[in-house]
Amino acid sequence: MSILVTGGTGYIGSHTVVELLEIGKDIVVVDNFSNSRPEVIENIKKITNKDFKFYEVDILDEEKMNQVFQENEIDAVIHFAGLKAVGESVKKPLEYYYNNITGTLILLKVMRKYNCKKIVFSSSATVYGNPGNPKYVETMGRGVPTNPYGKTKAMIEEILEDTYNADKNMSISILRYFNPIGAHPSGIIGENPQGIPNNLMPYIQKVAIGELKEVSVFGNDYNTKDGTGVRDYIHVQDLAVGHLKALEYLEKKGSGVYIHNLGNGQGYSVLEIINTFEKVNNVKIPYKITDRRPGDLDMFYADPTKAKNELGWENKKSLEDMCRDSWNFMKNN
Ligand code: NAD
Ligand code: UD1
Repeated sequence: MSILVTGGTGYIGSHTVVELLEIGKDIVVVDNFSNSRPEVIENIKKITNKDFKFYEVDILDEEKMNQVFQENEIDAVIHFAGLKAVGESVKKPLEYYYNNITGTLILLKVMRKYNCKKIVFSSSATVYGNPGNPKYVETMGRGVPTNPYGKTKAMIEEILEDTYNADKNMSISILRYFNPIGAHPSGIIGENPQGIPNNLMPYIQKVAIGELKEVSVFGNDYNTKDGTGVRDYIHVQDLAVGHLKALEYLEKKGSGVYIHNLGNGQGYSVLEIINTFEKVNNVKIPYKITDRRPGDLDMFYADPTKAKNELGWENKKSLEDMCRDSWNFMKNN
């Protein structure tokens, strides 16, 4: 029996594949390399000393997805494959809806055909919309995300719920990630986006390495501890472990739809991130205060209690670890 990982050479997927291999799971990975590179496969093998099956397949290609299920006995799927850039999704909504929604529909259709009943889905804190209270808890329900990317996540959550309503043998785990940063401590895999990054940590990394001049801090007049935006950052390795716990939970609980936040429960400001990065890595990160970025919220963070109580999952790594590992990866690459 194998676990299929879609998008398994991407940032979070690759770290999860490492954790799965480390506990001896048999896995099959599919990715179309739209946002990752083939070297990641060798890098994962280097870290784990373990082999796995890889298919260069677009999940939109139903015929090839059928073939993957035909050739392997897939017991569960961890579904990372998707496009994730918020700004790009505003400019290319059709591409985002097509890739993320249609891709998931095809995956679910193929799973149904091959009687595969378990799926773990990468959702996002963005599905809460703007609930008014910065501490996001699962009982709040879904809000209205402000961009097509976020809407695909909310829509896929609904599609998964409807899929369960039609087949009560399905076991579905929806994981709502907060802000993943950091990299594998080996420095061999991590996140290295092409071009100018949109997210804070990749931007800081590129300033640290001298590729970009300074970080623009988007606003210092928010109602937060130092006026800059506050988010819940979580080490990608902790996040990866969350998927193993979610799979175990599905085994234990059986059928149902289970939703969990994966965050550390604490908010850090932009300036705290910059200062910690400078301190632990002994590098200078020049920055300037600029206008707010449209659409940004002042502050939000997870209530991770449900994941702790039900999945037995808790984040273990500190902000210092996240900053150290992010820099270590950047230096090595
Ligand atoms: P990523 O872009 O690094 O990884 C996604 C992978 O999916 C890439 O390797 C890409 O090539 C692949 N992919 C995309 N479309 C595909 C398709 N049609 N067929 C096959 N492969 C395809 O992103 P990530 O940061 O690892 O995110 C993984 C998942 O988690 C995504 O669904 C993302 O939306 C979600 N998520 C990410 C964050 C974050 O901050 N990184 C936060 C919340 C949710
Ligand atoms: C963004 C996405 C969100 C996604 C998340 C994780 C938006 C509006 N939301 O969230 O859907 O799930 O990434 O990938 O893009 N900042 C700066 N300067 C920068 C970059 C960011 O000051 O150059 C600030 C932001 O204003 C924010 C914080 O840093 O306060 C974190 O930003 P970012 O890393 O982009 O994540 P989010 O905005 O939380």
